[in-house]
Amino acid sequence: LLTCILRPLEVPYRYLFGPGPSNVPPRVLASGSRPIIGHLHPEMYEIMNDIKKGIHYAFQTENNMTIAMSGSGHAAMECAVFNTVEPGESVLIAINGIWGERVAEIAERMGANVHKLVKAPGGHFTNIEIEKVGKHKPVLFFLAHGESSAGLCQPVDGIGDICRKHNCLFLVDTVASLGAAPIFMDKQNIDILYTGSQKALNAPPGTAPISFNDRACHKMFNRKTKPVSYLFDMTHLSNYWGCDGKAVRAYHHTGPVSGFFALRESLAILAEKGLEESWRKHKEVAAYLYRGLEDLGLELFIPDKDLRLPSVTTISIPEGYDWREMLVYIMKHHQMEMTGGLGPSIGMVMRIGLMGYNCEKTNADKALHALADALKNCKKSKA
Ligand SMILES: *Cc1c(COP(=O)(O)O)cnc(C)c1O
Ligand SMILES: *[C@@H]1O[C@H](CO)[C@@H](O)[C@H](O)[C@H]1NC(C)=O
Repeated sequence: LLTCILRPLEVPYRYLFGPGPSNVPPRVLASGSRPIIGHLHPEMYEIMNDIKKGIHYAFQTENNMTIAMSGSGHAAMECAVFNTVEPGESVLIAINGIWGERVAEIAERMGANVHKLVKAPGGHFTNIEIEKVGKHKPVLFFLAHGESSAGLCQPVDGIGDICRKHNCLFLVDTVASLGAAPIFMDKQNIDILYTGSQKALNAPPGTAPISFNDRACHKMFNRKTKPVSYLFDMTHLSNYWGCDGKAVRAYHHTGPVSGFFALRESLAILAEKGLEESWRKHKEVAAYLYRGLEDLGLELFIPDKDLRLPSVTTISIPEGYDWREMLVYIMKHHQMEMTGGLGPSIGMVMRIGLMGYNCEKTNADKALHALADALKNCKKSKA
């Protein structure tokens, strides 16, 4: 009965060239294998303070209320919504792929009055369209900066100002774009920003940086009702992360100690490399990948180069092929993950992610080689 668990653990090496998780560099893997210390030890607080500094840099913010969630990107999504919205309040969600759909569902579940601004996958929102929706009087407006299910990078300049004018908080998801495409939390007047550990940051999945500015803090700490989640309540989390100015940091939950070690190391790598260099590299490798894909006769799903997400590239499914078959072939023969669409983009696209540590021309060549091989071997016989 126990034979399976008694076998030694086996984990294959995979090229993680999908939309996440991405491969983790040895230095980050090593940091996660350090001995465990207590989550309330002074050394751990110091590591958490370092993480906070690293997030400040990565987000380009000086917000005191900056922490990492004990959980994946979804934990940050729920934390943002649960803390800043009360049941019955209006929120507006921009939906042009799965991420807006998810945030709308999260807001619906906690009893918010959800309004949706919907586009087909690949579409982006103009500031004029966003301006019009003040009529719903939302307390929160959500937008995905890197819409990884469609491969779109949504421009965010000016939207923070529109939200301010309408007395609405601006919430931006950068799980798939942080480190790959420029974002300036403070300069762009973003009130709440979050990301995940396992995409361009190249840490293991399971932690998620999030930051709230003073406007967001004012809203979330002046509510009439308690947030529906105890685990994600920012009153407790801000104390755990030493953001509330109190001398005593009380036990709330046990943070993922190894995950925080790894997150610290991945933020350190980004700081060493520099954001500008990381953005430049993603753009350069993405452009190289686009050329290679076009040389294979494939069609990029987002026609406008400037709207493509540099970390996750989407291609239209080539005529005469079954995308599932191609992906299975690529995994089987190249030990490489690429993926299909997600949510509304299923059946429309295939996705190739070259993020952070994986973002190299040599990896683009590997991905192109695997795709060329699949194109040769997976063509449907017209029976
Ligand atoms: C991957 C992703 C998420 C979800 O992150 P998890 O870590 O899987 O919970 C959210 N938003 C975007 C844009 C993503 O790409
Ligand atoms: C900001 O955070 C520090 C700890 O990092 C804390 O000591 C300080 O009181 C905080 N400031 C405010 C205004 O909460």
